[in-house]
Amino acid sequence: MNYDDFLELVTRRRSTRRFKPDPIPDEYVDKIIEAARWSPSGANVQPWEFVIIKDKVTKDKIYEFISEMNPINRKVELTRPAELQHHGSHGASGGRPGYMEAPVFIIACSDLRKMEGYPLSTFLIKGRHNHISAMASAFLYMHLAATSLGLGSQWISATNYVLTQARIRGLLGIPEELEIYDTMAVGYPALQPGPRLVREREGMMHRERFDPSRFGTDEQVRQFIATVIGRVER
Ligand SMILES: Cc1cc2nc3c(=O)[nH]c(=O)nc-3n(C[C@H](O)[C@H](O)[C@H](O)COP(=O)(O)O)c2cc1C
Repeated sequence: MNYDDFLELVTRRRSTRRFKPDPIPDEYVDKIIEAARWSPSGANVQPWEFVIIKDKVTKDKIYEFISEMNPINRKVELTRPAELQHHGSHGASGGRPGYMEAPVFIIACSDLRKMEGYPLSTFLIKGRHNHISAMASAFLYMHLAATSLGLGSQWISATNYVLTQARIRGLLGIPEELEIYDTMAVGYPALQPGPRLVREREGMMHRERFDPSRFGTDEQVRQFIATVIGRVER
């Protein structure tokens, strides 16, 4: 694969938020997990475990647990300036989220016991940093694998609130030693996402030293956030 092919895959990967309910072959799920297997991880501890869910009743239950956080999340958001408030993508503002149509959920968990594999100072001072980076890396591989298979995927982080984790843990028998990282909804896309705002390359590059002329003011950063979360006209 050359760089152009690689970049084509990277730019083709987008968050799918509407899915066809059609099942995907089990072989595709295997291929997605196969990609995760090759992810880098600190000290090669490979902390990941994956729970694959196709059962509708289980998915409904997970959604019920996610929804339990909606009233709390809403109240917390109301404490912020209006332009920064999120309306939520997990059914907080009404209907069921599109990912509920996805035929497969993959819940990625990390085995906290594997943190002992890091050098002691990493483990003691950096806490879960390396573990979270390893999970993010594996998770991104999975999303890219799904894209390469012609599938759509959504990254769902709403399953790692402490309350939601506890509820899912009970439902699926996930041991206490595992932390629920995030959940991937995957299936055939029913809708192509619109164009995405992507920052300019030069604005984020600082050659040899940090370039203060590229350092956004507080106001610019807030304006950017308000734009990407859709609170102002683009
Ligand atoms: C750590 C992380 C958490 C995310 N959590 C969610 C989520 O809970 N719900 C959601 O709809 N999208 C979630 N996303 C997807 C982002 O919203 C999305 O990647 C971003 O808006 C860029 O759009 P794109 O993926 O289409 O390029 C998450 C992405 C990351 C990396």
